Amino acid sequence: MIELSNVSKLFDQARAVDDISLTVATGELCVLVGTSGCGKSTTLRMINRLIAHSAGSIRIDGRDIEQIDPQQLRRGIGYAIQSTGLFPHWTVARNIAVVPRLLGWPAERVRQRVEELLQLLELAPAEFAGKYPRQLSGGQAQRVGVARALAGDPDILLMDEPFGALDPITRESLQNELLRIQQQVRKTIVFVTHDMDEALKLASRIVVMDKGRIVQQDSPQALLAKPANAFVENLLGGQERGLKQAGLLRVDSLMQALARPTSAVTGPRIKATDSLRQALSLMLWHRCSSLPVVDDQGRQVGVLQLDALMSRPQ
Ligand SMILES: Nc1ncnc2c1ncn2[C@@H]1O[C@H](COP(=O)(O)OP(=O)(O)O)[C@@H](O)[C@H]1O
Ligand SMILES: [Mg+2]
Repeated sequence: MIELSNVSKLFDQARAVDDISLTVATGELCVLVGTSGCGKSTTLRMINRLIAHSAGSIRIDGRDIEQIDPQQLRRGIGYAIQSTGLFPHWTVARNIAVVPRLLGWPAERVRQRVEELLQLLELAPAEFAGKYPRQLSGGQAQRVGVARALAGDPDILLMDEPFGALDPITRESLQNELLRIQQQVRKTIVFVTHDMDEALKLASRIVVMDKGRIVQQDSPQALLAKPANAFVENLLGGQERGLKQAGLLRVDSLMQALARPTSAVTGPRIKATDSLRQALSLMLWHRCSSLPVVDDQGRQVGVLQLDALMSRPQ
């Protein structure tokens, strides 16, 4: 779907992006991660031609982007950024409708699309459609920014630290929303962040960048298991690695299942869909080495033993 071959970007003499090659398959959620100034945003902005690359080639669905009119290219690619870029004097509805209007959709279809997107982002249309950006909280504004990026139903979504300015709780809820939306609409997403935890949580593939180059690209699991060098290891948080790895696995991947669910349990318990990291934390807190595992209705469906965590193969 998106193919970068030996792409470089020079600003004056400085190499912001240095000979990177990267293929992002359809439906992937590819996260570019690295410290500030390593060339993530530049890479993203070359894909929608907001920045022209200096060398190499970029293809979308096999077509060289230099052969595509930049305006037309950008209408087919959603773009969401940290500062949202919402027009302050336009309502939420009008802001979301920018691309559909540029695409010449009939008014009724635009209205329906805005409503559908507000619902998808869990913003009640009756309440939010007529609001102005200054009347929104940071989290709501980011939701509108994501809705706008999705509005023209693009196949590709580029997201540049879209949740970077949010408090941790709002950020987590938007990350969960993005994962849910991605399950529903299956876009090809390139997501930029400097936050490795965000990358581990969201990515189907993580691309680690340093000084304009790609140092490693792998699944979150593989990255944690085998960081290519000390830089990646450090970015992964060194001694926290064990916990981060446990954060990627679900309790039901390791529990002993009961033959059939029993009635509701009281006391310390963990949900089957929670992470092994959360289970470990609960065990530490309650000083216990096993936990009943429950389903959404609170019925016990299994048991998780600390031993199972300890004897898990690497
Ligand atoms: N328009 C520009 N003109 C000159 N230098 C730039 C420009 N944009 C980015 N740079 C430089 O390119 C490098 C990579 O920047 P950027 O892609 O924004 O990094 P990141 O998004 O990873 O923080 C940095 O050294 C930055 O200063
Ligand atoms: Mg950036």
